[in-house]
Amino acid sequence: TMLHHLVFLLGTSLVAKEIFASINCYYQKQIARYNGCSLTEVPLVPKDTLVFWLNFNKIRQVNASSFPLLEQLLILEIGTQSVSSVTIGKAAFRNLPNLQTLDLGDNKILHLDPEAFVGLSNVNTLRLFHNRLDESILEEDYLRDFISLEYLDLSSNQIKILRPHRLFYHLKNLTIVNLKYNQIPIICEGHLDSFQGKFFSLFILNSNYLYKPTSEDWANCGNPFKNIALGTLDLGSNGWGEDKVQHFLTAVNGTPIDFLKFKNHIMGSGFGFKNFRDPDKDTFAGLARSGIRLLDISHGFIFSLNPYLFQSLGDLEWLDLNHNKINQIQKQAFFGLRNLKTLNLSYNLLGELYNDAFEGLQNVKLIDLQQNHIGIIAQNPFRDLLSLEMVDLRDNAIKTLPSFPSMATIFLSDNKLLSIGSQTIRATFINLERNRLANLGDLYILLQVPNVQYILLRQNRLSDCNKHVNVSENNQLIYLDLGENMLKLVWDRGLCLDVFRALSNLLVLHLNNNYLTALPQDIFSGLKSLNRLNLASNLLSYLPPDVFPESLKTLNMSENQLLSLAPEVFMTLSLLDITNNRFFCDCTLNTWIAWVNKSNVTLAGSENDTYCVLPPGLTRVPFSSVALDGCNEDELQKPLQFSLFIFTSVTLIMFLTAVIVFNHFRGTCFVWYKTIIGTLLKERKQAIDTSAYKYDAYLCYSNRDFEWVQNSLLKHLDSQYSEKNRFTLCFEERDFLPGEDHITNIRDAIWNSRKTICIVTRQFLKDGWCVEAFNFAQSRYFCDLKDVLIMVAVGSLSQYQLMKYKPIRVFVQRSQYMQWPEDHQDVDWFLNSLSHQILQEKKVKKKSSVTEMQTIRTIS
Ligand SMILES: *[C@@H]1O[C@H](CO)[C@@H](O)[C@H](O)[C@H]1NC(C)=O
Ligand SMILES: *[C@@H]1O[C@H](CO)[C@@H](O)[C@H](O)[C@H]1NC(C)=O
Ligand SMILES: *[C@@H]1O[C@H](CO)[C@@H](O)[C@H](O)[C@H]1NC(C)=O
Ligand SMILES: *[C@@H]1O[C@H](CO)[C@@H](O)[C@H](O)[C@H]1NC(C)=O
Ligand SMILES: *[C@@H]1O[C@H](CO)[C@@H](O)[C@H](O)[C@H]1NC(C)=O
Ligand SMILES: *[C@@H]1O[C@H](CO)[C@@H](O)[C@H](O)[C@H]1NC(C)=O
Ligand SMILES: *[C@@H]1O[C@H](CO)[C@@H](O)[C@H](O)[C@H]1NC(C)=O
Ligand SMILES: *[C@@H]1O[C@H](CO)[C@@H](O)[C@H](O)[C@H]1NC(C)=O
Repeated sequence: TMLHHLVFLLGTSLVAKEIFASINCYYQKQIARYNGCSLTEVPLVPKDTLVFWLNFNKIRQVNASSFPLLEQLLILEIGTQSVSSVTIGKAAFRNLPNLQTLDLGDNKILHLDPEAFVGLSNVNTLRLFHNRLDESILEEDYLRDFISLEYLDLSSNQIKILRPHRLFYHLKNLTIVNLKYNQIPIICEGHLDSFQGKFFSLFILNSNYLYKPTSEDWANCGNPFKNIALGTLDLGSNGWGEDKVQHFLTAVNGTPIDFLKFKNHIMGSGFGFKNFRDPDKDTFAGLARSGIRLLDISHGFIFSLNPYLFQSLGDLEWLDLNHNKINQIQKQAFFGLRNLKTLNLSYNLLGELYNDAFEGLQNVKLIDLQQNHIGIIAQNPFRDLLSLEMVDLRDNAIKTLPSFPSMATIFLSDNKLLSIGSQTIRATFINLERNRLANLGDLYILLQVPNVQYILLRQNRLSDCNKHVNVSENNQLIYLDLGENMLKLVWDRGLCLDVFRALSNLLVLHLNNNYLTALPQDIFSGLKSLNRLNLASNLLSYLPPDVFPESLKTLNMSENQLLSLAPEVFMTLSLLDITNNRFFCDCTLNTWIAWVNKSNVTLAGSENDTYCVLPPGLTRVPFSSVALDGCNEDELQKPLQFSLFIFTSVTLIMFLTAVIVFNHFRGTCFVWYKTIIGTLLKERKQAIDTSAYKYDAYLCYSNRDFEWVQNSLLKHLDSQYSEKNRFTLCFEERDFLPGEDHITNIRDAIWNSRKTICIVTRQFLKDGWCVEAFNFAQSRYFCDLKDVLIMVAVGSLSQYQLMKYKPIRVFVQRSQYMQWPEDHQDVDWFLNSLSHQILQEKKVKKKSSVTEMQTIRTIS
């Protein structure tokens, strides 16, 4: 079995023993499994056994009486016995007439009776590797009965001479011979006479130190493979330099060889040496008549590919030169390779490519140049390669692109590209990962090619966008990877917000690790086919409804800063990853859990990775262990709402008349009132409680409203704006710690302020941060029983617009909000009542709050 081979390769029967000690030894379904059972003799097995495994035992001897008649047995393995030697007696397998595979490998020392194998005329696979067998195994007639033999494994033995017995002439089906790791120093014409007329699909002479300099003069040795045809001939790891290769190939001139392997050779001068020769136009000349199609000369020391090096190899289709020291491709090095399809030059020392580097390769489809040091490419080395389908330039040092002909796949990852320039790369698959591209505008250039389907730009430095062209409407892009860039910097400046607008065929989009704090409005609106979206590892705290295309099925929001979850956003999904966010677990979580239960969405990741971060009592408690009770707000609110309605109506009617009168003179009235009250309460002003809080109020508004807020509120309230003002306010532009993450700043501001004033405008509602801040401030009402939130609505906002947002809905239902006056004369009055609200300590009364409050407990 494979395992037996594997263990042989590991080379320790000790390990094997331990592996198998615990495995039961049994017979089941015609397979007798007796590997590693410490057996010293062959056990009895049923007559119908097909497969018999006896590896890793302690059987010293197998003889004619070892096996009962097992007419059906096909496979027998007695390898790796942990005894000093194994003896196979006369006719040991005579009772196994139909055996097809016999494995006696890795017995270290194997003693064979000359008649050991009699009767094995159906065996096609014989494994005798690592048995300290010498040349007699081939020179004598041990194998005479193996007339069906196809595969003979004699690797890792001590064969020193290769002169097979005449009997091999009758083994017509023998096609694979493995002689790797023996000690055959030379094979000359005549030695393999009994192989004449045969075709070997695989002949392995790897690692034999063939033709060592100390051997007899092999110059006159002739062609060892005379009248033999070879599929694959493996001559690797024999320590051959250029002279031996040339000599050998001259000797075998005319022998058909399909695939020649010289992997691990010592041809070539290497880097910085001159004493060994690089191969030249004569080296492979001997192969001219062999019809060779595949040549592996990888893992060597070739430094220069000399002119006309491969000129005789007109049939060659595949040339592997990886892991040499190739630094120079001389003119016309590849001349004559008119049928070559694949050229592998990876892992060499190429530093530049000249225009004529690939001259003569008119049919090449695939050039692998990865892992070189190519820093500069002449204008057009790929120009004439009209059949080219793929170029692999991964892991080089390319700074500027040459022009490429149109092809299917181009790998340019791990280079030093600073920009695409104006070069269009006409390929279906373009990999530009890990370069230094900074301009998202380059993507617009890449998308000029209508048939491009895959673009990979992961781990670049995209942080700017300077575009000169629009994305073509008929592009075919289906896969785009923009992960690990800095797209936040692009979109924050309002640049290239249309980048996805025309990608109507796109199926997969990666935007992970882009420092995104918010998604620009309508950014995904053109992605009509989008199926999979990766937004993992950003800083998103809020997802507006309708942000994702309806076609979306898989979404990764892992490692963001989402505070809450609104099912509306995720309606179309079948797979969602929300692990490692910063959820605030309030009553809305119940809605979420219920939705997940009844929807078809699958949540990715371990359930312990989807957890709460806030409120403090629930930090890192997984959703699955959180239970929120008393969350039926809607029902509790109803009577309250009704009485509120009655009360408001009555009050309204009563004061209507008075209000109409007052309305006309209210500005003047208020100024009188202020003056009187001001003188009366002079002392009390000083007594404002300065305890506990760093700020009197945190002003929360959308950044776009800052101008207005500054003119209308800050200038009239904040003490730093005017000495007349008495409040210490906190607001983002001045008081937020730069570098601290935004959500922490907001949280600190709310905790450190007596009140939080939310300036609710149209912009405010659009801004996810603001809505989350609102939500957070509101949460203190429930958690600490402190009503810290003051809501100021500015501009004409309909009730409907406000009620769309759950946190605001909850607030409006329990408390009144302030409306910024439309009439200018009311502003003073408004600011005054706002000041009062800031100073007022509103404790939520325990008694009334019990019903509203959520009790949160953790299932332990
Ligand atoms: C055959 O081998 C067994 C041990 O496996 C041994 O006991 C027996 O004597 C041997 N028979 C002959 C004829 O050598
Ligand atoms: C040799 O192989 C052929 C084809 O696989 C098969 O038909 C023939 O029986 C085999 N000859 C012997 C002697 O096993
Ligand atoms: C070229 O050789 C390298 C190293 O063995 C290998 O990884 C790569 O797949 C090969 N390229 C082709 C096109 O076969
Ligand atoms: C790109 O499209 C915009 C809007 O359709 C248009 O105003 C602009 O001129 C176009 N630019 C180019 C270079 O075609
Ligand atoms: C989502 O992204 C994270 C972070 O990159 C990754 O660990 C996770 O496997 C992804 N989830 C899915 C479902 O692919
Ligand atoms: C999911 O729904 C089923 C019935 O639809 C209910 O029995 C089960 O308790 C629910 N599970 C959770 C976690 O809500
Ligand atoms: C869940 O899937 C089933 C069958 O695929 C479908 O009938 C049902 O409408 C889906 N439910 C939801 C909530 O999408
Ligand atoms: C989740 O955590 C609990 C408690 O630490 C542990 O018992 C459980 O095995 C974890 N579940 C998974 C899927 O890791």
